[in-house]
Amino acid sequence: MGKGYYISKHLATAAMVLAAIALVTIIALSVVYNREKSKNAAKFSKATTLPVFPTPKTSNEPWDKYRLPDTLSPQYYNVTLWPRLVKNANGMYIFTGISGVMFTCEKKTDLILIHSNKLNLTVFKGHHAKLTGLSGVTAPAIKTTWFQSETQYLVIQLEGKLKPGKDYWLYTEFTGELADDLEGFYRSEYMENGEKKIIAITQMQATYARKAFPCFDEPGMKAVFHITLIHDRGTTALSNSQEISKTNNPSLNLGPHNCLTETIFGPTKRMSTYLIAFVVSDFTYIDAKDKKGVLVRIWARKKAIEDRQGDYALNITQPILEFFEKYYNTSYPLSKSDQIALPDFNSGAMENWGLVAYRETALLYDPRTSANGNKQRIVTVVSHELAHMWFGNLVTVKWWNDLWLNEGFASYVEYLGADYAEPTWNMKDQTILYDLQSAFAVDSLTSSHPLSRKEEEVNTPSEISEMFNTISYSKGAAVLKMLSEFLTESVLRIHAVDQTPGIKLPYSVHEIMNRWILQMGFPVVTIDTRTGNVSQKHFLLEPEAVVDRKSEFNYEWFVPIKWMKKGQVQDQLWLLQKSVSKNEWVLANLHVSGYFRVNYDLGNWERLLSQLESNHQVIPVVNRAQILDDAFNLARASIINITLALRTTKYLLHEREYIPWEAALRNLNYFFQLFDRSEVYGAMQAYLKKQVKPLFEYFGTISSNWTTVPSGHTDQFTQIIALSLACSTGVEGCRELTRSWFKKWMQNPPNNAIHPNLRSTVYCNAIAAGGAEEWNFGWQMFQKATVAAEAVKLRSALACTKVPWLLNRYLEYTMNPEKIRKQDATSTIGYIASNIIGQPLAWDFVRANWDYFFKLYGTGSFIFSGLIRDVTYRFCTPFELSQLKRFQKDNAETGFGSGTQALQQAIEKTTAKIKWLEGNKEPVLQWFLSESA
Ligand SMILES: *[C@@H]1O[C@H](CO)[C@@H](O)[C@H](O)[C@H]1NC(C)=O
Ligand SMILES: *[C@@H]1O[C@H](CO)[C@@H](O)[C@H](O)[C@H]1NC(C)=O
Ligand SMILES: *[C@@H]1O[C@H](CO)[C@@H](O)[C@H](O)[C@H]1NC(C)=O
Ligand SMILES: *[C@@H]1O[C@H](CO)[C@@H](O)[C@H](O)[C@H]1NC(C)=O
Ligand SMILES: *[C@@H]1O[C@H](CO)[C@@H](O)[C@H](O)[C@H]1NC(C)=O
Ligand SMILES: *[C@@H]1O[C@H](CO)[C@@H](O)[C@H](O)[C@H]1NC(C)=O
Ligand SMILES: [Zn+2]
Repeated sequence: MGKGYYISKHLATAAMVLAAIALVTIIALSVVYNREKSKNAAKFSKATTLPVFPTPKTSNEPWDKYRLPDTLSPQYYNVTLWPRLVKNANGMYIFTGISGVMFTCEKKTDLILIHSNKLNLTVFKGHHAKLTGLSGVTAPAIKTTWFQSETQYLVIQLEGKLKPGKDYWLYTEFTGELADDLEGFYRSEYMENGEKKIIAITQMQATYARKAFPCFDEPGMKAVFHITLIHDRGTTALSNSQEISKTNNPSLNLGPHNCLTETIFGPTKRMSTYLIAFVVSDFTYIDAKDKKGVLVRIWARKKAIEDRQGDYALNITQPILEFFEKYYNTSYPLSKSDQIALPDFNSGAMENWGLVAYRETALLYDPRTSANGNKQRIVTVVSHELAHMWFGNLVTVKWWNDLWLNEGFASYVEYLGADYAEPTWNMKDQTILYDLQSAFAVDSLTSSHPLSRKEEEVNTPSEISEMFNTISYSKGAAVLKMLSEFLTESVLRIHAVDQTPGIKLPYSVHEIMNRWILQMGFPVVTIDTRTGNVSQKHFLLEPEAVVDRKSEFNYEWFVPIKWMKKGQVQDQLWLLQKSVSKNEWVLANLHVSGYFRVNYDLGNWERLLSQLESNHQVIPVVNRAQILDDAFNLARASIINITLALRTTKYLLHEREYIPWEAALRNLNYFFQLFDRSEVYGAMQAYLKKQVKPLFEYFGTISSNWTTVPSGHTDQFTQIIALSLACSTGVEGCRELTRSWFKKWMQNPPNNAIHPNLRSTVYCNAIAAGGAEEWNFGWQMFQKATVAAEAVKLRSALACTKVPWLLNRYLEYTMNPEKIRKQDATSTIGYIASNIIGQPLAWDFVRANWDYFFKLYGTGSFIFSGLIRDVTYRFCTPFELSQLKRFQKDNAETGFGSGTQALQQAIEKTTAKIKWLEGNKEPVLQWFLSESA
């Protein structure tokens, strides 16, 4: 699933060759360390004192185990499904289906376990399935069948044994509900020209294929699928493969069949069940053929395609496919590539093989209303999903414990593909914001976990969905990026640079990588320029935290350090051992290619700060951002003084680049959240107002008093920061601007003259400053929006109001799918929680309705971690901590599903903040007071 540089042509090719080397290594690595893990299994289990997940209930019965036995292996399925897009007599939307699977018996057994969830299976002669032998083999008779609901199996016990090496055919007929639950085969509704439309779509990852038809639902159980869909004439059916025939009024043994069409799809490649997809809709498409004749289509609502919202996606798909063909040195594996934008979709996107599904905001671009940030999201998500067509779909991890390889790799190469499609956008530099720094934030907690988990640690659907987290995606990407960067120079060096006295040096790539993959966390490297000493330490935000999880590597890493001395790039070293004379500065982790933080002796910090203030451009852009982020986090961990961190923001007076400003903003936002209920707030506002004023004026000037936007892609992002920070700190003229733009729009709604880039900021500020009138106008515009990107801007801006009853009403709306789509409910609550007035309201709301959400989304849903993170983000008082613990206790029985870790993290973060505030609030206040005077 998908989760949000300029480089010359010949450089791009060079990067590609190097990347290809890295790819081979990564694949080799995955094989090697799988072996490594099983070798170390015994050692590991002794070392691990506290498993993160509760161990599954132990039972000797195979049907109580979440993993399938290795007795049977599926070869191919024939599946026919018929979704009904109108309610049946009981007021229910349903689908019916027939499915057969040919499997080979691998080991003698009298038991068949096959996944089946929420399906009503037809009974034949007292049993829920029919079994026959193929090629003249006689199948044993069925003794009994039943459902094991905990493990989601149809259990079939046989009178006799299946024979190894023989093939059998298992046949079922069934009915399922076409619910609006966003899982398995489900329905989505939307309005078009005042008419309610219904479509049938799928989301199988991770464990929902079993809700569409009985199947061996594990990623390693690959098979070929022959799929047939029955649907109303006039609608279109899509699946992973190209359709091979379409018959009107087919003769069916499924019931009455007037006005129906039967669409038969060609056999798929051997593939995993989680990548299966079906769609029945009246969507339309635009298409193109790529150079090799692969059919590329973009599907969406008719109106969206008519408005040309699919054009951008179609434009970039071809270069991205071309890029990955070269990158993997493998042709695109299928004959067609469909991408479809869905009005209701839980994740950002899903890499179904040959039929990728997206939220509308991740695929549709409307130049009149979409911001350039929306465009960037589209190119990165499309690139991510298309990268999976090879890595993930063609080559697949055996089990979900290795999900990080799949997702980390796609999250890393998505920037390479996006960079190829949009070479002027500085995409590769932005990875430090979207992967490295977000991974650091969770990987510096004791509740973090290693990239790779032991296979037996991941069993239940909620344990599986919990794997779809920041560690798998973002840390995975950052670590793979580091690997590819050090390999470029040093495959040889790793073997050559061996024993320097006193320092341990790496032996092999996999030895190095094991430390990053098999143990959680990352180091802070401290460079003391007085002595030349370099040391490392496990970086934890809470300095006194005790790590439960033992590591066989003692939390030491092999750290590749690229560095710079007084503006000169130095050779990469594995550990730095050079003394540096007093008045030179050194900068380590050059270009932020490594996954670690850096600290220096005070003298070097001072020299870096004065370099930043005198001429910041000597230091690369991404390093300026990283100095800020490292300093603030080192201060949060009480490793350096907070006033030192605050001083890294002083040079921002001269900074005009996006990445450092964004890094600063994130860290300052954290401060806002800590202090906006205290007396520090005023002084902080005054200081930031002073810092952002030049940026605001600069953009006012270059944009002709805010009537145009800058041409540079990331400059457009910086312009947004300038406006939003200037308005929130009260820079003169800012709020007047946004209010007047919004007012003009309210006076003439069909004509919205606010530039799409600036809309989020303008809407939020105007609604925050206004009352019910502004809010209701925003709500009306939200309901009328035909472009999803515009709807999101309004939906988040509506959470900016300061009026409690409006916020409470808005919270209520999240429980009504007619008002807020189910896919958007939890993110809306998150927006409300980020508002100082909304936070306590959202927290009460979530606490009061936890059971309801849990039932609504199902225990396997991955939304809970985001929900918990968002509503607890501001917590920093002992009272709030006690509420959190209370919440944990009160709902222990219902559980927290994918939010289990997030809750643990929230408790840990709140505890750390309380402690930190004790010693730091006063110096922070004093510093802001002195700097804003
Ligand atoms: C499954 O479908 C394929 C393709 O239509 C067909 O050739 C095959 O005979 C079917 N298998 C069974 C057992 O019905
Ligand atoms: C399946 O059977 C149960 C129990 O009889 C019934 O409540 C449910 O509505 C059925 N579902 C479908 C989709 O027919
Ligand atoms: C798509 O490409 C065409 C041809 O290069 C171009 O004219 C059009 O503006 C592009 N559309 C978008 C939305 O980028
Ligand atoms: C793979 O690489 C070889 C050697 O460079 C080249 O001849 C071949 O065309 C490449 N294949 C693809 C699909 O890019
Ligand atoms: C941090 O520095 C400030 C000002 O230099 C000083 O007053 C304060 O005591 C220092 N705090 C700590 C914890 O060392
Ligand atoms: C910029 O625009 C604002 C509002 O549209 C106006 O009040 C102000 O005078 C303009 N400033 C300049 C320098 O033109
Ligand atoms: Zn993915």
